[in-house]
Formats: sequence, structure tokens, C-alpha cells
Amino acid sequence: MKKIIESCSPAETEAAGAALAAYLSDISPDSLYFVCLTGDLGAGKTAFVRGFSSVLSPESRVKSPTYTVVNEYRKGAVPVYHFDLYRLEDSEDGLDSIGFDHYVQSGHCILEWSEFLPERPAGAVEVRITKKGDEERLIEINC
Ligand SMILES: Nc1ncnc2c1ncn2[C@@H]1O[C@H](COP(=O)(O)OP(=O)(O)O)[C@@H](O)[C@H]1O
Ligand SMILES: [Mg+2]
Repeated sequence: MKKIIESCSPAETEAAGAALAAYLSDISPDSLYFVCLTGDLGAGKTAFVRGFSSVLSPESRVKSPTYTVVNEYRKGAVPVYHFDLYRLEDSEDGLDSIGFDHYVQSGHCILEWSEFLPERPAGAVEVRITKKGDEERLIEINC
């Protein structure tokens, strides 16, 4: 699936995240999802995660994992792991040190600053968010 969505508000970006989670749940209900987000600071990555998690872990409070690398949301059938890899930039074995493989095998992973991932797992969904104006965003989804 390849999709381009124009968003004009944080709510629309959240809705795009929710729509992706609903789509994945529909076509592949028993899988674990791995979603790679790219986009500058303030693009709306966290907003997208908020929508995504609202489907897979309803009513979890979604915030950027600023002082940790990963937040866990556990109100769905399997956990949602929300990563922000920004601060892994400088460390070679950063992902190994947090036990990344365990996360990948036990829940849905959605990652901000996924450009810092050394390699993407097979089947990863790519989401690129580009700022077009104060409130306009282009959201490109490949899965
Ligand atoms: N269309 C939009 N989609 C998402 N965020 C938007 C949009 N328009 C304005 N914003 C603002 O941009 C910021 C996005 O923040 P956030 O989701 O934390 O971005 P990121 O995680 O990419 O740094 C918020 O302050 C939000 O209010
Ligand atoms: Mg963020």
C-alpha cells in the first residue's frame, strides 16, 4: 500500500496514524507491526503515534519518550513500544544495550527518528512526514 495524505491539523495527523493502525489490524490481525517514522522536529511524528496507539492501546497517554528511549503502552492485546531514537545517534551499541530485539519480538514498534536505525526489519512500514506550512503536513505511507 502506498498512500499520500495531506494533513491540515494535529487532529488530522492523529487520524492518519489511527487509520494506519486500523488498516494493519484489518489486513494482518495477528502480526506485530513495525512502523518507521521520519520527519523533522515538529513535523508531527508524536501526533501520528498518538493516533496509531489510540487504536492498538486505547486511552494510553502518548508522549515523546524524551528521557528514555522507549515508552510502553499496554492497554491493548499486545504492547505498543514507542521509540525515539534521536539520542541514540552517538552511541554504537545503543539499541543492543536496551534489548531492542526483545521489543521487536513482543509488541508493535513505532519509531520516531528511525533514520538512526542501523537496518530496517523486513516488512517495516515507512511513514515520512514533511512540513509544508504552519499546519500543513504531507504524510507518505509505504507498506
Ligand atoms: N498538521 C499537523 N500535524 C501535526 N502536528 C501539527 C500540525 N499542524 C501543526 N502541528 C503542530 O506541530 C507540532 C508537532 O509536534 P510533534 O507531534 O511532537 O512533532 P514531532 O514528534 O515530529 O517532533 C505540535 O506542536 C502541533 O500542534
Ligand atoms: Mg516527537
